[in-house]
Amino acid sequence: MTLRVAILISGGGSNMEALVRSMQGDHPARPVLVLSNVPGAGGLARARALGVRTATVDHRAFGGDRTAFEAELQRHLERARAHILCTAGFMRILTPGFVDRWAGRMLNIHPSLLPRYRGLDTHARAIAAGDAEAGCSVHLVTAELDAGPVLGQARVAIRPDDTPESLAARVLGHEHRLYPRVLREFSERLAREGAAGRP
Ligand code: GRF
Repeated sequence: MTLRVAILISGGGSNMEALVRSMQGDHPARPVLVLSNVPGAGGLARARALGVRTATVDHRAFGGDRTAFEAELQRHLERARAHILCTAGFMRILTPGFVDRWAGRMLNIHPSLLPRYRGLDTHARAIAAGDAEAGCSVHLVTAELDAGPVLGQARVAIRPDDTPESLAARVLGHEHRLYPRVLREFSERLAREGAAGRP
């Protein structure tokens, strides 16, 4: 069975593109939807250029009603019959109700060596703390922000002259290799276990 992957984005979608390209050819999964909460997000054009169906659910149209916003997300995900959900630069906090529905089948990439630096401004915080290294983590998404089981990490040395921007650019290149590797391993395990569950 080929597993069906949906990817949630809010911006440029460079991680989304890395994931989509990694699924071209011999792979247990394939991308079936790229879904953005931001109309016109750069990643939507990138996804279309890669031949992946896209959709937009503008969170602003729901006036702060997270449940209604997420119900619309879920409608698109069910129509796409997604088995696996990857967030990649998706900047909305999801409620426990939504996350629980995807328990064990939802991945995220975070630009730090979790459990250090959950939340935002990870690179600035690592530099300010005088850390020797930064990095990125792919983890299962749970109700607690950036706190789910870590499935893979990449470590990046912090240079004395690094700014948050220069460090972010270097870490991003590692993200583009880490996320596809973890998704492949995760997909292979899910396919073996037949634990994809109902789409
Ligand atoms: C990346 O640093 C990622 O770790 C974070 O969002 C940033 C932008 O990602 N989640 P992308 O280029 O939109 O994939």
